[in-house]
Amino acid sequence: MADVSASEFWTDLYARGGDGWELRQPAPPLVDFVERTPPPRGRVAVPGCGRGHDVRYLAGRGYAACGFDFSPTAVAQARSLAKVEGVAAEFVQQDIFTLGRDFGRAFDGVWEYQCFCAIDPRRRIEYVRTMAAIIKPGGWLLACFFPMRRRAAGPPFPVSAGEVRRLFGPHFRVERAYEPRSVRARQGQEWMVLLRRTNG
Ligand SMILES: C[S@@+](CC[C@H](N)C(=O)[O-])C[C@H]1O[C@@H](n2cnc3c(N)ncnc32)[C@H](O)[C@@H]1O
Repeated sequence: MADVSASEFWTDLYARGGDGWELRQPAPPLVDFVERTPPPRGRVAVPGCGRGHDVRYLAGRGYAACGFDFSPTAVAQARSLAKVEGVAAEFVQQDIFTLGRDFGRAFDGVWEYQCFCAIDPRRRIEYVRTMAAIIKPGGWLLACFFPMRRRAAGPPFPVSAGEVRRLFGPHFRVERAYEPRSVRARQGQEWMVLLRRTNG
C-alpha cells in the first residue's frame, strides 16, 4: 500500500495533478447542512482540509474555522486562496494524529470530508480518538463519509455504516444520518452523519 501516512505522498499528488478529489468549491453536503440547520457558531476544525474550500466557506458563515493539513502545498494554496478572497480562515500545517497534544477540547465542532478515507484504514481508531480529544464535551462532529462502496484500491479507502457506528460509538452518539446531495461522480456513495461527543 502507498504510504498515505507520509505527507510526501500527498504533496507528490498535488505536484503532478493527481488531486482527483478537488472540487474547487465547498462540498455540497456541507453547504446544504449549514444553510438548513447551522450548528451553533464556534470554533471548528477541518482535518485534511486540502485547499481549504470548506474552511473558507465555514469562515464566511461566521465560524472560527481552522484547517489542518500536513502537505505544505495544500496549506500554502489554502492560505493563498483565503488571502485572495479576503477570508479570515486559519490554516495549520500539522499531522492530524498529533492534534490531541496541542488542541485538547479546543473545538466546538469538526467537519470531516475526504480525510477519513485518505488515512491508513488501520489508523481509523486513532483518528476517532484524536477527534474525541479535540472536541469539547457536548460538541459535534459532522462527517460526510465516502466511498460507501468497495473499490479496487485506495486511497480513497472504503467505509461502511457499520464500521462508522462501531468506531465512533465509544465517544460519539449518532444524531442524524442520511444520504446527502453529492457531486455527480460521488452520488450514492456518500453518507452524512451528525455525531455528538458523549462522555466516553
Ligand atoms: C483526499 S484529500 C482531501 C482534501 C479536502 N478535504 C477536500 O475534500 O478537497 C486528503 C487531504 O488530507 C491530507 N492528509 C492526509 N493524511 C493526513 C494527516 N495524517 N494529517 C494531515 N493531513 C493529512 C492530505 O495532504 C490531503 O490534502
